[in-house]
Amino acid sequence: SIEQREYLINGELKIWTGSQNPVLSPVFVKEGDAYKQKIIGSTPLLTSKESLEALDAAVKAYDMGHGLWPTLSVTSRIEHVEKFLTAMKAKRAEVVKLLMWEIGKTLKDSEKEFDRTCDYLVDTIKALKDLDRNSAKLVEEQGFMAQIRRVPFGVALCMGPYNYPLNETFTTLFPALIMGNTVVFKPAKYGVLLIKPLLEAFRDSFPAGVINIIYGKGRETVGALMESGKIDVFAFIGTNRGANDLKKLHPKPHRLKSILGLDAKNPAIVLPDADLDNAVAECITGSLSFNGQRCTALKILYVHKDIVKPFIEKFKAEIKKLKPGMPWDAGVGLTPLPEPGKVEFLRDLVEDAKKYGAEVVNENGGEYLNSFYYPAVVYPVNDKMKLYYEEQFGPVIPIVPFDNDDEAIRYVVNSNFGQQVSIFGTDSKRVARLMDAFVNQVGRINLNTQSQRGPDTFPFNGRKDSAEGTLSVADALRVFSIRTLVATKTT
Ligand code: G3H
Repeated sequence: SIEQREYLINGELKIWTGSQNPVLSPVFVKEGDAYKQKIIGSTPLLTSKESLEALDAAVKAYDMGHGLWPTLSVTSRIEHVEKFLTAMKAKRAEVVKLLMWEIGKTLKDSEKEFDRTCDYLVDTIKALKDLDRNSAKLVEEQGFMAQIRRVPFGVALCMGPYNYPLNETFTTLFPALIMGNTVVFKPAKYGVLLIKPLLEAFRDSFPAGVINIIYGKGRETVGALMESGKIDVFAFIGTNRGANDLKKLHPKPHRLKSILGLDAKNPAIVLPDADLDNAVAECITGSLSFNGQRCTALKILYVHKDIVKPFIEKFKAEIKKLKPGMPWDAGVGLTPLPEPGKVEFLRDLVEDAKKYGAEVVNENGGEYLNSFYYPAVVYPVNDKMKLYYEEQFGPVIPIVPFDNDDEAIRYVVNSNFGQQVSIFGTDSKRVARLMDAFVNQVGRINLNTQSQRGPDTFPFNGRKDSAEGTLSVADALRVFSIRTLVATKTT
């Protein structure tokens, strides 16, 4: 069990002596004849006093843009990040192990998350060098000579989600830092202990106050930061509700720059002439990798009525091949879910769908044990059901049969969300019509492939309630900075 008491403020790892928040692992451990989940550690339940101390350190280190960090050369800031990256790589085994124990991610996917995060930092450094080279250029225009400088915003609050507690968190945290902002960082609610092995690397790689790491209940700690009005940038990946609850606490919302990655209900649209094997394979990984707990997952499948029966038969057969187990088991495909109450939430969504005429059509679908929920394929789903609108963020796959493509178009156009859509089909005219209908509705259209974030150098965004601001390696550098113009007349 890991009793973590350290938190990072102003370059010092402080030791908390107050109460602790227990960390319950989703993983089952055999005890006698029963399988039980275990408390695997605890983290500090800091109060608003400590979080405001962290903020104070970040505000001082920024010093209205005159601090050491925001005025440091790009080359030097890059050196600090490189130092961190070297130290981080040495902690791979520890972090990967905690990813498995804390959020139930498979060994393969945990390793992938770690390596992908390191690659992201390397790519970010490369992109910053390019950006810096271009910013140095003088521009001559209509009798003016100008230089456009990229400068930081100020103090950033960075919070990441539990499904990618390392990768998604660092894809806002590091662009914020490297562009010269100072940061208060609160790790995800689950997947929180895995930052512990990196605390010393943070302390040793950055000047005091540039990065401050706090723990505790969101409303108490982060709420106080927002109420202070001193947060300039709010980088949050999670739910709309969480983002809105925090944003509204800021006394001057017009002065708060928000960079948000929020809920999504990405549909797949499978046309009658689609390559069925490919569509099924892509929809399986799209809806079930990491048990469907990805903002980018496929969360509703619109399948044309002419092929819906064979689609479902093949889909069911593929689910059977996914092996349930613990994250470290060889070849495992389905693992326990980290969010307490998630199994009950999924069960209720399915019960609600049943009330309106749907059925679970796959063998063992919806069976559960402790924090494990076996994927449920729910068919036929319609607009009376919660499952039609609500993001399930878990292994429940609603299938909607459709006759006319306009039905699928209406779903996307009327949805509150607009992250991605996948279209499966071979009739190029028909696919093009759908693409045209979606191009102003979502952040990404996938043709004959599942929805996903990667490659991380691609822009990652969404429309409507799904996002604010574009993330990617290069875009993230832009969203965490602003252009200041220095201009003089030449004539
Ligand atoms: O949950 C959202 C993640 O950014 C998803 O990334 O599509 O690579 O799994 P992914």
